[in-house]
Order: sequence, then structure tokens, then C-alpha cells
Amino acid sequence: MSTTGQAGTGAARSGAAGPGSSRALRVLVLNGPNLDLLGTREPAIYGRQTLTEINAALTARAAELDVLVAFFQSNHEGALIDRLHARDFDAAIVNAAGLTHTSVSLRDALLAIERPFVEVHLSDPATREPFRRVNFLEDIAAARFVGMHARGYTLALEELARRWAAGLIPAHAGNPEAEHG
Ligand code: DQA
Repeated sequence: MSTTGQAGTGAARSGAAGPGSSRALRVLVLNGPNLDLLGTREPAIYGRQTLTEINAALTARAAELDVLVAFFQSNHEGALIDRLHARDFDAAIVNAAGLTHTSVSLRDALLAIERPFVEVHLSDPATREPFRRVNFLEDIAAARFVGMHARGYTLALEELARRWAAGLIPAHAGNPEAEHG
């Protein structure tokens, strides 16, 4: 499992602060099994960029957009679900990797937390083996970017920032359990 921290935001809230909110959008970038191996994992399919490099590029773009971004990668379904349950973000970018095609539980978690998410895949699973055409997330995703390699993550971030600025994403106070518990 690898987790990296937060990208800061500047004092000015000119970028992604929506009309209904005076603060920056908080985005969780969630990556599933085997994406920690990007860079060396089947580069003909997934490219040569490492997850660290992808996250660094996202951090830089997030700073430009005035978005707070947090990263979480795990090879464990339950760890991904637990991270979602924290609900310390307004929206998510999700590459569930192989769990996209198998996990009712991850789908249920994404529905339960009531946060919009953008589905990202480096490759386009629909054009690969038939079992990758089963997708438990696509019908509940707010938007999807597939087959664009690392660029898909940046496009997902930009899409969420656009929606936040348009007031289309509710500003959540944080983790309800933490607040009331
Ligand atoms: C993937 C596509 C999935 O089918 C595969 O299991 C992955 C990566 C992608 O980003 O292209 O692990 O999510």
C-alpha cells in the first residue's frame, strides 16, 4: 500500500472554489490493485510513467486549479473501501483497476459515501479481453476518462474543478462520524 499526502493550496481561492463554497475543492485520488507497479507493469498497455510521477503531475495541476488533492493506493479491496468511508473529501478520482470488473462492495461503498467520482483507466478496458467489459462502476460515475494513459487523471481533475466552480458538487463538512462521534 502506498499513500501520499496533500497538495497545498494558495491563499487565493480564485480557482475551484464554487459559488456555494468559500473553500477549495478536496479530491481523493484512489488507485486500486497493481497500480503501484506502473512504470514497469505491462508498459505497452499502461505506459512507462510511475504512479509517483502521475501523482506529482496531478499535484502540480491541482495547485494551479486551487484544488486540495490526497492520494491513496492499495492492493486490498477493504483498504480502499475503508479509505472511502473516511469521507474527508468532496469528490474522488477512481481507478479501481481489476476491482472495476469484480467488486460489488467497492460499488456499494462509492454509492454509500454520496460523493461524486470520476472513473479513470489508463487503458480502455472495453477494447481488451471480454471479462474487462464487465464494469461495476461506469453507470454510477459522474464522468469517465479511459484509454488516455496518465492524461486521464488530469482531465478528471479538471472536470471536477469545473463542476465545483459551477456549484455542481456539494461542499461536505467532512467525516460525519468524526464530527458527531
Ligand atoms: C486498468 C484497467 C483494468 O482492466 C486493469 O485490471 C488494471 C488497470 C487501467 O487503468 O487501464 O489494473 O484499470
